[in-house]
Amino acid sequence: MKNKNILITGGAGFIGSHIADKLMDDNKITIIDNLSTGNIKNLKNPDHENLKIIEEDLRTSNLDEYTKDIDYIFHLAAMASVPLSVENPLECNEINVNATVKLLKSAVKNDVEKIVFSSSSAVYGENRNMPLKETEPLMPTSPYAVSKASCEMYLKSFHESYGLNYTALRYFNVFGPKQDKNSQYAAVIPNFISALLEGNQAIIYGDGEQTRDFVYVGDVVRANIAACKSDYNGVVNVASGEKLTINRLYEIVKDTLGSDLKPDYQPERLGDIKHSLADVRNMENINLKIDSSDFESQLSETVNWFKTVL
Ligand SMILES: NC(=O)c1ccc[n+]([C@@H]2O[C@H](COP(=O)([O-])OP(=O)(O)OC[C@H]3O[C@@H](n4cnc5c(N)ncnc54)[C@H](O)[C@@H]3O)[C@@H](O)[C@H]2O)c1
Repeated sequence: MKNKNILITGGAGFIGSHIADKLMDDNKITIIDNLSTGNIKNLKNPDHENLKIIEEDLRTSNLDEYTKDIDYIFHLAAMASVPLSVENPLECNEINVNATVKLLKSAVKNDVEKIVFSSSSAVYGENRNMPLKETEPLMPTSPYAVSKASCEMYLKSFHESYGLNYTALRYFNVFGPKQDKNSQYAAVIPNFISALLEGNQAIIYGDGEQTRDFVYVGDVVRANIAACKSDYNGVVNVASGEKLTINRLYEIVKDTLGSDLKPDYQPERLGDIKHSLADVRNMENINLKIDSSDFESQLSETVNWFKTVL
């Protein structure tokens, strides 16, 4: 992708900053981010001549102005935590849904070519029909999951009502450098790596035989760019299509770090699902293939990054 004007909401966050880093040399990038969980330091070159950072909240910022002359929008800004959404459902709705509808209206007004939306496997919720296909019924259980499902429906309705092009990407468990390890809601891979690097036991909730479908952040970046270039209007799972037990994940992290610490098994957490696995065939619609055989080298890269910041 070259010579495009691109808006990235949440571009200072974990995934958004990887997208910005990838595109900033060849395109003009505008980031809107209120830095609630993001950090300017996530960007490889915050002073890049092609980069404009607007430190504002999507709920109050003048999106009609910021979407002028924009070709593509990558919309990532969100309250991205399930537990936080349970604590603050109204705020979750304001950020994740209302601000998205506001952004879609501005995109239509300014003839934006396409919007790529960061959705989540959380929309499947209680649907246990693995591997999950995009056509499966949505059974969201948290305000966060409801907000993502609502946005997908708004995108479809804006496509049908106003012709706005979109792809919604349902990420499964994303991991990679720059993932937040400090948040109380940190994901399992940063938790394992930071515990072991600090010489502490890592916690496994339940018996560790639960499985997840992990996807590397570099593949998520490729998915966003592929979706943007494609003519596909609809929803696509973004995952490896492979299941990994948490016990096996722990072994890999432990071996990568050369640690011999045993995990600390704690009772299962309420609401945690036992298995999560994507049907990834729909990725063809955006000409995307993810090679799951790279997992261990991607994990090593992630570990190496964590070593630099701990
Ligand atoms: N990381 C994952 O495993 C995962 C899985 C599924 C979906 N997602 C989705 O991908 C997107 C990016 O997630 P992430 O992991 O990079 O999270 P993140 O918290 O690192 O990124 C979100 C960014 O949005 C910004 N933001 C939040 N509220 C805002 C507001 N009101 N106005 C402006 N900016 C705001 C934050 O400061 C942050 O930089 C989110 O929409 C998230 O729901 C992530």
